[in-house]
Amino acid sequence: MSSRLPPVLVVDDEKNMRLSLKTVLTDERYGVRTVESAEEALELLEREEFFMVITDVRLGGMSGYELLGKVRAQWPDLPVLMITAYATPKLAVEAIKAGAMDYLAKPFAPEELLHAAARCAERYRLLRENASLRARAAESWRLDQIVGACQKMRDLRQLIQTVAPTDARVLVLGESGTGKELVAGALHSLSQRSGAAYVRINCAAIPEALLESELFGHEKGAFTGALKQKPGRVEEADGGTIFLDEIADMSRPLQAKLLRFLEDGSFLRVGGTAELRVNVRLIAATNRDIVEAIRQGQFREDLFHRLNVVQFRLPPLRERGEDVLLLADYFLQAFNEALHKKTRAISRAARQKLQAHHWPGNVRELRNVIERALILETTPEIQAASLPDFQLEGRLHKKAAPRLTGSESLDDRMADFERELITAMLEQNHYSLTRTAEQLKVSRHALRYRMQRLNITTGTDAEEDSSAAPGKAP
Ligand SMILES: Nc1ncnc2c1ncn2[C@@H]1O[C@H](COP(=O)(O)OP(=O)(O)OP(=O)(O)O)[C@@H](O)[C@H]1O
Ligand SMILES: [Mg+2]
Repeated sequence: MSSRLPPVLVVDDEKNMRLSLKTVLTDERYGVRTVESAEEALELLEREEFFMVITDVRLGGMSGYELLGKVRAQWPDLPVLMITAYATPKLAVEAIKAGAMDYLAKPFAPEELLHAAARCAERYRLLRENASLRARAAESWRLDQIVGACQKMRDLRQLIQTVAPTDARVLVLGESGTGKELVAGALHSLSQRSGAAYVRINCAAIPEALLESELFGHEKGAFTGALKQKPGRVEEADGGTIFLDEIADMSRPLQAKLLRFLEDGSFLRVGGTAELRVNVRLIAATNRDIVEAIRQGQFREDLFHRLNVVQFRLPPLRERGEDVLLLADYFLQAFNEALHKKTRAISRAARQKLQAHHWPGNVRELRNVIERALILETTPEIQAASLPDFQLEGRLHKKAAPRLTGSESLDDRMADFERELITAMLEQNHYSLTRTAEQLKVSRHALRYRMQRLNITTGTDAEEDSSAAPGKAP
């Protein structure tokens, strides 16, 4: 027996019975504690850990049945074996119904007892193992890994905390690189399902023809290449969470099947006829404009409503103000450790440059920028010259950046456009307000006012006319 296994608790008011149970069990190297009454047993259970309880049905005082009820209520994972001299099939059935793991009639063979004990020991080990796996899984996705101090990110973390413990379906929207996967992971690990599987499927990464079989499994011979039966990932996710990333890329026929699945968790494997059923929580995400996809008939509106019970919208990085710098410092620290570098700070000019960039690739882009800068950097601070030429890249990406425009108002769209334009001009002019204002044919005052309103910061309030190019040739 493993030394980590806690003892068995034996409850019997007959001394001889206690002794013989103890002998049989200790011979097999189980630890054993014996008590005479259910009352004593409950007292001991409060204080010590056991891997199983063996109790006589008839005890002086509280009966074995009552003890069973109390154990079930308070320590639902602790198995109870009932023993009695007055066994009838009816009693046995009742005991099992009341939650006893098994029922032995006196006299019984020692093997029967040992067999039950071995099963309980095994079960205890499995529970332990699962608990530690669960703890590890919870470690991997935490709320504080979602860095951000701006109001939108604070609200987001709050919403995650509120929604995670419920079974509500969640649709996560946001441009590429805004942290949708982080949100989905946090939702799972803060949920009551965190001990069960978290299955992730990227609908865009799996060829359309294979996605259905990936999701729902297939029977042997369902299609060429289906050499044997394969369970679906939804089966793997039973009791847990399934994260369908890039959901807008799912084909219409499969959308219909997903819709049916969402009704009650039932599905057919590809080529199968038996209806299977699982209990999974679904989280979906997309960086596409889902409303536009619906409008164009690529995405089913009814599926959208099914998925959209709670919606998370991740703001693009350019709308998170000072978070750019907060995240930059966060990644700097992380990569310092990973790359064994000692570049602890980001120079002022580099900060300005980071803050003024439009970030079409959002947090992912920032992360890559910092990683690259750290590799290039030879001084103790990240210099602006170690950052990419954003002007050039900006021109490449600006058109391609997908935006969530579906339900935004004209004002919002105009503001987006204005923000983009001003940011681009600022970049071009190396953050000189004077020159930018000149080009846009507004006064400097008007430009500053608009920048404030649009939440554009250059990180240089005091020295607003840093017309010197921050560390790079124009
Ligand atoms: N708020 C944040 N704090 C810390 N790291 C973040 C944050 N947001 C995103 N990241 C990091 O940025 C990278 C991109 O995030 P993620 O993969 O979640 O983006 P996504 O929204 O799923 O993008 P895509 O639509 O392209 O799949 C990851 O390395 C992630 O850890
Ligand atoms: Mg993603």
